[in-house]
Amino acid sequence: MDVNEKKKAAAHAALAYIKPGMIVGVGTGSTVNFFIDALSQSRIDVEGYVASSIATEQRLKAAGLTVLDLNQTGDIPVYVDGADEIDPYFRMIKGGGAALTREKIVASASRQFICIVDDSKEKGMLGQFPLPVEVLPFARSYVARQLVKMGGNPTLRQGVTTDNGNVILDVVGLDFTDPVNLEKEINNIPGVLDNGVFAKRRADVLLVGGDSGVQTHK
Ligand code: 5RP
Repeated sequence: MDVNEKKKAAAHAALAYIKPGMIVGVGTGSTVNFFIDALSQSRIDVEGYVASSIATEQRLKAAGLTVLDLNQTGDIPVYVDGADEIDPYFRMIKGGGAALTREKIVASASRQFICIVDDSKEKGMLGQFPLPVEVLPFARSYVARQLVKMGGNPTLRQGVTTDNGNVILDVVGLDFTDPVNLEKEINNIPGVLDNGVFAKRRADVLLVGGDSGVQTHK
């Protein structure tokens, strides 16, 4: 099975968590795009979808699906999203698609987070994937220096402006022994909007597409 078939299989398995009348949070990325395709084919009669990015909003609308404003939905029953890495405790690195801040907001507003990945994303420990940090352009240099003091090596993601008008620093070399603390520590730097460690709001269910089908972990 190639990687896209694995992503597609995990995305299709997430349909089992979507019930008629629900509001559904929708993440961002290639795996989620397969989920949106599956939703549009399934015709489950949900109330609507909350998008975690402009790209996802456009894709949902193009598929004829109803997009709702998070400010008008209250808490969301279920959120479906991919990840760049996920560890055995369901903590993740996200933001490869630069959508990490809105993803974390929608995930945090949701009661259940279903993570859909291909099996290359499962890691014993987080930290091989460069950690995306969303930063106000005004603070870019200052934040980069603070990340260096923490042991990191940040690189500005070229040509990328987030949906919130900010830049992304991709950071390697950080210590992921305590992801909850790392997430907090980076977010305490003035000028950081959010970072791609999802340790406080972990996934609740993990659907992994692999050669022998989809494994469900809870
Ligand atoms: C976007 C994300 C994505 O979930 C992550 O990058 C995984 O993407 P893909 O499904 O394309 O592998 O965090 O900001």
